[in-house]
Amino acid sequence: MKPYILSIDQGTTSSRAILVDHDGQIIDIAQQEFEQHFPQSGWVEHDPMEIWSSQLAVITSVIAKSKIRSADIHAIGITNQRETTIVWDKKTGRPIYPAIVWQDRRTADFCDELKADGKEEMVRKKTGLLIDSYFSATKIRWILDHVDGAQERAEAGEIAFGTVDSWLIWNLTNGEKHLTDVTNASRTMLFNIHDCDWDDELLTLFNIPKAILPEVKSSSEVYGETALDVLKTAIPIAGIAGDQQSALFGQLCIEKGMVKNTYGTGCFMLMNTGNQAIQSEHKLVTTIAWKIDNQVTYALEGSVFIGGAVVQWLRDGLGVIKKSNDVVRLAEKVSDTDGVYVVPAFAGLGAPHWDSRARGSIFGITRGTTDAHIARACLESIAFQTYDVLDAMQQDAGHDIKELRVDGGATQNEMLLNFQADLLGATVVRPKNIETTAMGAAYLAGLATGFWKDMDEIQKKWEIDQTFEPDAEADSTQALHAWHAAVEATKVWAAL
Ligand code: G3P
Repeated sequence: MKPYILSIDQGTTSSRAILVDHDGQIIDIAQQEFEQHFPQSGWVEHDPMEIWSSQLAVITSVIAKSKIRSADIHAIGITNQRETTIVWDKKTGRPIYPAIVWQDRRTADFCDELKADGKEEMVRKKTGLLIDSYFSATKIRWILDHVDGAQERAEAGEIAFGTVDSWLIWNLTNGEKHLTDVTNASRTMLFNIHDCDWDDELLTLFNIPKAILPEVKSSSEVYGETALDVLKTAIPIAGIAGDQQSALFGQLCIEKGMVKNTYGTGCFMLMNTGNQAIQSEHKLVTTIAWKIDNQVTYALEGSVFIGGAVVQWLRDGLGVIKKSNDVVRLAEKVSDTDGVYVVPAFAGLGAPHWDSRARGSIFGITRGTTDAHIARACLESIAFQTYDVLDAMQQDAGHDIKELRVDGGATQNEMLLNFQADLLGATVVRPKNIETTAMGAAYLAGLATGFWKDMDEIQKKWEIDQTFEPDAEADSTQALHAWHAAVEATKVWAAL
């Protein structure tokens, strides 16, 4: 057996490549941020060629800096930002339009029309999703409507659609494979999560020709091999999962009822619901967690669109910090926010509000408010949004959630996790390895190729670093009341 699994983690703001050994230890990581394009208010685009070139660059770099050969890689697992929509020419492999990113709200009006036409229930029953511009279907429609000749070329089978996993596999195999896995397919709003297949009624509703869709596979199997002119070695690609499902797997939330929250660009809380696709009564979505050995596992998900990205905004938008890590030092200059609340609805509000027109707002500013108060309120907003999603999830589950496994870059921030535990009144558990998104894809690829024998072997690799217990004295009632008032006012303003 070759000694390493390569996990490819293509996220919203950076491309990463992570080498994992047989003990489940990370050997090395390479990471590259890439450009975000905001061509109009509410629009977010990526250059698909830059997604691919940055991904290839970090793969090459992690191999070089860890001084291994690509021939030492047993298999590749892929995990990716979900919903982001790419359409490319099958002959040239060139995109016909930039990638429309999951945060992009340009199709909000179209979504409103669909809701006004009474399509919500049908879409929800089949896909587990609420109608929202977050998901891929309306983004595909937009591209087919706005790029000259795209609809005809789609009907003629000349162009291909894919989420980022499909785009990477197409490029890794030099155009030989056009496929995706069930977790990514379940985020398109075109996929029936009960039948596990593309849905004809939805394809007709959106007028999307079947010919452009990728073949849908399970989350753990050998899909193909890397082309020789890409990595000089034919390496099996053997695991695919959308990044949030991958993190659920990487957190070993493999039993029904287990919950994780990832603090990435956004915050995404998923609860494993076993082989049952539970329909939420509280505006969460139902999604496929993974499909392994023909067994489908489902999850309930609460998606918060702006989590760690609020720190990037402090860095790039306001310029009050130089590096993301500086946020803690700035926030700790003050002992509280002095009544300042930031509602970071920069990309609308996701769960449990689903208000695509909401825009960010700041409340409670006085003459004495400083950048430190705003930075602290930004960090607290991450925890408040997580509270609202956990609250909805508890109501759907019908019981309290006592433990939340957390991961993602922002979980290095202990101030945030202590505040989070107090707010939730639940234990927050941080594992030793917080790269759980990458680990999930590595495990999926390792399981498919015999690198790891079974789940028992994998389960031993998850270890606790630290638990954050809620302070029994903490009373968050007033803070939550103020937060909810701020969110409501934000929504009212958006509706003006
Ligand atoms: O649904 C969007 C999600 O997949 C993006 O994840 O890690 O890039 O914030 P991330």
